[in-house]
Amino acid sequence: MQSSEIATKADFDHIRYAQLWEDADVLTQALGDCAGGTLVSICSAGDNALAMLTLDPQKVVVVDLSPAQIACLNLRIGAFRHLTHPEFLELMGARPSTLRAELLNRSLQGLDQDTCDFWQSLESDVVQFGAGGLGKFERYFRIFRTRLLPLVHRQKTIDDIFVSKPKAERQTFLETRFNTWRWRLLLNFFFSRFVMGRMGRDKAFFDHVDGSPAQHVARRIRHAAVDCDPAENPYLHWIMKGTHGDALPMTWRAANFDLIKSRLDRLEIRPGSLEAFVSTGEKADGFNLSDIFEYMSPDIFAQVYGSILQASAPGARLVYWNMMAPRRVPPAIMDRVTTLSELEDRLKVQDKAFFYSDFVVEQVKD
Ligand SMILES: C[S@@+](CC[C@H](N)C(=O)[O-])C[C@H]1O[C@@H](n2cnc3c(N)ncnc32)[C@H](O)[C@@H]1O
Repeated sequence: MQSSEIATKADFDHIRYAQLWEDADVLTQALGDCAGGTLVSICSAGDNALAMLTLDPQKVVVVDLSPAQIACLNLRIGAFRHLTHPEFLELMGARPSTLRAELLNRSLQGLDQDTCDFWQSLESDVVQFGAGGLGKFERYFRIFRTRLLPLVHRQKTIDDIFVSKPKAERQTFLETRFNTWRWRLLLNFFFSRFVMGRMGRDKAFFDHVDGSPAQHVARRIRHAAVDCDPAENPYLHWIMKGTHGDALPMTWRAANFDLIKSRLDRLEIRPGSLEAFVSTGEKADGFNLSDIFEYMSPDIFAQVYGSILQASAPGARLVYWNMMAPRRVPPAIMDRVTTLSELEDRLKVQDKAFFYSDFVVEQVKD
């Protein structure tokens, strides 16, 4: 199996992302018409690989270096099979619940022993936070919400963020009620490289990042709070309130539940690196690459990008995000892809997972 640069640097023993913090609504639109094709997805918590089933592909090959992240997808597969949609939301933590231990046990029926052992060892966390709330990234948001946010804003201010209002009023709300000096102080502390590295992301992930994370977050909060309507943003709701409100991520919506459930057998889970998939000689019609390029040095990125092109069918789309480090098609191979700029611009405006600085859609030329 091919190794991957980041695999040697970060610790993958625990769940880092218990839910997907990348917007599947923009991902699925970016991938375009994939009916009958082969798609490849980075797993992370599995939600976006599941969302890709709505595109009616022949299969979705799911890869991840982390067994803990693959276990998140396996749990969802069991939950889709054995739970109703409202029960699924309770298990994941989108809704309050007193039944999570039982829902967890039902979801594990028929799954492999390692997955069952892994999740049974996490039962008390599932009961407390929901299966979508117990990763390292979610813990970071939880500490922010429970220990720090109350020092800065009253509950009424937090609740008012999610009352739908016109754009001009959202702007006034942000400037006059939300962006106080206490808030700015909190942002600078909590999103310092030191704190983020210790609590949310592995320090290795900052090796290639320019600029201050806090400045970046302030810009993206404006996008989420003013350009978009917070009332429609499940990600912001979870960060500020610890559950979802009416708005849900694509995979968790009632409207998609039965369709995804009926196509679960089209998932092909391959624990291991994306680089391992591209070395098999198979060709894919579309790739969800999450923000993995950001974890690579520019040289390794160029190498991996080139190998993905070898594994792409003509017309395949490469879809990925950048959080802070800029990554786009390497100049040496620019002539082999078309950047779908208009589509990118349209989708960036809609992207509800607001903390990314760039969203890229590149299409392999015929
Ligand atoms: C890049 S991280 C980003 C997570 C994300 N922003 C989210 O909201 O879930 C997603 C996953 O990519 C996996 N990963 C990173 N580099 C990889 C690679 N080269 N091959 C396969 N998986 C990789 C990590 O294990 C992690 O589970």
